[in-house]
Amino acid sequence: MSDVFPPRKLPPETSIDVWVIELGGPLEAGIKIDSILSIDERHRAERYVFAKDAFRFRLCRAMLRLGLAWYLEKAPQEVILTTDPRGKPCLAESSVLHFNVTHCDGLGLIAFTTLGEVGIDVEDGHRDVEALDVASANFTSNEAAMIAAAETSQEQTSIFLRLWTRKEAVLKASGYGIQGGLGTFDVSQQPPAMVKLSRALDDDSEPCWLVRDLELANEFTGAVAAPAGDWSILQLPVCSEDLTRLS
Ligand SMILES: CC(C)(COP(=O)(O)OP(=O)(O)OC[C@H]1O[C@@H](n2cnc3c(N)ncnc32)[C@H](O)[C@@H]1OP(=O)(O)O)[C@@H](O)C(=O)NCCC(=O)NCCS
Repeated sequence: MSDVFPPRKLPPETSIDVWVIELGGPLEAGIKIDSILSIDERHRAERYVFAKDAFRFRLCRAMLRLGLAWYLEKAPQEVILTTDPRGKPCLAESSVLHFNVTHCDGLGLIAFTTLGEVGIDVEDGHRDVEALDVASANFTSNEAAMIAAAETSQEQTSIFLRLWTRKEAVLKASGYGIQGGLGTFDVSQQPPAMVKLSRALDDDSEPCWLVRDLELANEFTGAVAAPAGDWSILQLPVCSEDLTRLS
């Protein structure tokens, strides 16, 4: 666990804590995990075809519960999760603490904040994507042109994933997910950039989102979105051994 691990109190409104979790590690760690998960979560884990995916889901969900319990000063089993009307996971009890989760291959990220709704996304930079085709069909013309202007396909993929994760972060902050429409707003501006979802332009309750990129190791690309304001990101490395210390 990092020396800069946060104190056991809610993060301030100027900061988003991002737990950076390696989802590798020994499968035996799973023995401890099950005591933290709800019955529904254990059943969901059983539906994964590959043991590796089931383990990653269980570890990431256990870390989410431990994180919420850490900040709320509760036992992990006392944390009750539900989903909002748009399908976004949230705390069942009203709370100033908000969170969002993303995982890709061996990396899980959890954003915790008291700023308001938050969205986070990560993608593996090694993945093979038809960057230009997907962007032409789903992104704004500005964004697609940015990708087309890149000189190599590797560069195209890297710009594509940068834009994709910014978009997903905004769509996850709003709770719409990908159904919010990838092409309905533009994230080609260099962060910190302000974004308002076009489907919510007449909706004053829908905030203006601020997007920031994450700096991650091993060519992972990530972004965070939260209500516009003067906030920064605190990245905190967490590993499966920390389960013992946190629980
Ligand atoms: C479900 C969705 C919100 C995110 O999916 P994703 O990018 O595959 O997955 P992520 O790892 O980033 O996020 C998954 C987490 O988002 C959270 N989540 C689920 N629905 C959500 C919603 N409506 N709003 C915000 N967060 C949501 C959950 O905590 C979930 O974690 P869990 O699976 O452990 O329960 C949605 O935007 C989606 O379907 N995206 C398409 C993904 C895709 O096509 N990716 C290709 C990349 S090139």
